[in-house]
Amino acid sequence: KYKACLFDLDGVLVDTAIYHFQAWKTLGKQFDFELSHEQNEELKGISRVESLEKILQWANYQATHEQKDRWLKEKNENYLALISNMNSNEILPGVISFLQQLKEQGFLIALGSASKNAQIILEKTGLITWFHAIIDGNKVSKSKPDPEVFQKGAEALGCSSEECIVFEDAQAGIDAAKAGGMKVIGIGSPLVLSGADKIISSFTEIQVSDFMTL
Ligand code: G6P
Ligand code: MG
Repeated sequence: KYKACLFDLDGVLVDTAIYHFQAWKTLGKQFDFELSHEQNEELKGISRVESLEKILQWANYQATHEQKDRWLKEKNENYLALISNMNSNEILPGVISFLQQLKEQGFLIALGSASKNAQIILEKTGLITWFHAIIDGNKVSKSKPDPEVFQKGAEALGCSSEECIVFEDAQAGIDAAKAGGMKVIGIGSPLVLSGADKIISSFTEIQVSDFMTL
């Protein structure tokens, strides 16, 4: 019954979540704000602009438009520097063999990420060759938990939402998949993720046959 898998990127296929965290933490120092791990969890899956807005709110800092534009640019420059040496070693454990299984079984594969840097990361890691469609932050107007990114992914693959399984590490992403009427597998800890149809800590724990019964 399932024909397609839609993957989030950051924290699902590659460990870039740590670089986003570092880059925001560095930025926060400019207005004496120390980003916590709990707060960072809330930034996962949402856009760059929305992330900055949340951080400024937590810091209780009123920034001007000019400051915001400059900080968004700085954060991304810092992030790009952090990922500049990325290669296939940074693909998370079990990902490639899982993609291989999907390919062998004829699944369609799409990316559904809020990141505007998705393409470059897929290229640097070599992951790009696995994808039939790529929907990233440049192609959507609404951020997760809005289902737009996954709906566009399903559409690009020619599948209905019932035929798709989403893989997500962020609460906003799990909520987006559910809002789009899709099954979702959470990657991470059940202590921070809720509402997923199944939660695994990594792709080393899952075979295609495990989700066919969901
Ligand atoms: C993903 C990450 C977020 C990141 C967002 C935008 O959703 O989980 O942490 O802020 O993409 O990424 P970008 O690369 O466009 O700044
Ligand atoms: Mg993610």
